[in-house]
Amino acid sequence: MVDPGGEAEPVVVRLGDRSHPVRIRAGGSRELGADLAARVPGDRAFVTTDRNVLPLHAEAVRDDLERSGFATRLHVIPPGESSKSLSELERMYGELAEWRHESGEPIVAVGGGVVGDLAGFAAATYRRGVPIVHVPTSLLAQVDSSVGGKTGVNLPRGKNLVGAYHQPTAVYTDPTVLATLPEEEYRSGLAEVVKYGITSDAGLVASIETNAEGIANRDPGILAPLIRRCVGIKARIVEADEREEKGERLLLNLGHTVGHALESATDYALRHGEAVSIGLVCACRLALARGRLSAADADRVRRLLTGLGLPVDVPAHLDRSRILEPLRRDKKIAARRIRFVLPESIGRASVAEVSVEEVLASLG
Ligand SMILES: NC(=O)c1ccc[n+]([C@@H]2O[C@H](COP(=O)([O-])OP(=O)(O)OC[C@H]3O[C@@H](n4cnc5c(N)ncnc54)[C@H](O)[C@@H]3O)[C@@H](O)[C@H]2O)c1
Ligand SMILES: [Zn+2]
Repeated sequence: MVDPGGEAEPVVVRLGDRSHPVRIRAGGSRELGADLAARVPGDRAFVTTDRNVLPLHAEAVRDDLERSGFATRLHVIPPGESSKSLSELERMYGELAEWRHESGEPIVAVGGGVVGDLAGFAAATYRRGVPIVHVPTSLLAQVDSSVGGKTGVNLPRGKNLVGAYHQPTAVYTDPTVLATLPEEEYRSGLAEVVKYGITSDAGLVASIETNAEGIANRDPGILAPLIRRCVGIKARIVEADEREEKGERLLLNLGHTVGHALESATDYALRHGEAVSIGLVCACRLALARGRLSAADADRVRRLLTGLGLPVDVPAHLDRSRILEPLRRDKKIAARRIRFVLPESIGRASVAEVSVEEVLASLG
């Protein structure tokens, strides 16, 4: 598990002919060209990033690709969720066409989940599919969005309404790039790390508790094995239920039913990970009320999230019934019953049907 020099084996996502490695290595974002050259035909790569990540990491990725013999084209999008749009997608298609991007040539996405989702969808659809390579630079992208093959863009009516599954050719995850991530973004990503621990890995939770200082300092030696554990968990779940048809993948929604409702009730003033953090505490409270989780475990989750600098209480000023409005419209609701992920203990969760009233009570 320990990854001092970062020479550990990649996590392999095993999906038949769509199997691929996730290489988790300090400095790996500056040394991926040679590995990629062996995985794709030709010697051209379309590199896409956002304006924030461009000078911090994407130029270095491009330089490395060029040193490895790739001709590159750099495509830059404005930072932020609003770039996951049909208009940015069209702009990317336009540049791909102008550059005469050919079928086997990769699109290399260097950035957070926004760049990855947009570029992934462009890659899924341009010329009926070209390879996508992820170089995730936010913690959320490293532990979550770069793994699993979901891609897509938003419509004015809702998030991720247009999308496709498109597995990457390879993922190059470098914990050192997190050094430049804004503090709130970093903390927000930690909520997803805690989520993985509660659903699937008690040892991961213990490891977060033990390594609080290294995590706060973003020590790559501490982060690499933590990220590896999260990627491993997601990889196993995706292997079992790639297209979210069987239920395993639903477990990754722990904390997200209330989390999504809070994001929307606060008009996105709460970041995704902050809302998920509160959602995790609510899920624990609901499980506690049903006698499914011990008070000691619920307290432990709350302390852990607080220690990471994440919020754990539904903001006092929020009208509880307003929070439930989007919950009532949630696509997972059938006849006022909600499919809800409940923790059973630290490291174990399952899906249960709960009532809107129980969710309301869990808001505290
Ligand atoms: N495909 C999936 O399975 C999946 C899963 C979860 C989330 N998502 C999607 O991911 C998106 C959110 O991703 P995100 O949180 O990474 O947001 P993001 O891509 O907007 O990145 C957050 C901010 O951090 C900046 N940034 C990224 N890396 C940086 C670095 N190393 N240094 C400095 N700044 C950096 C970005 O420019 C941006 O301003 C959402 O659109 C969500 O729907 C997708
Ligand atoms: Zn999430």
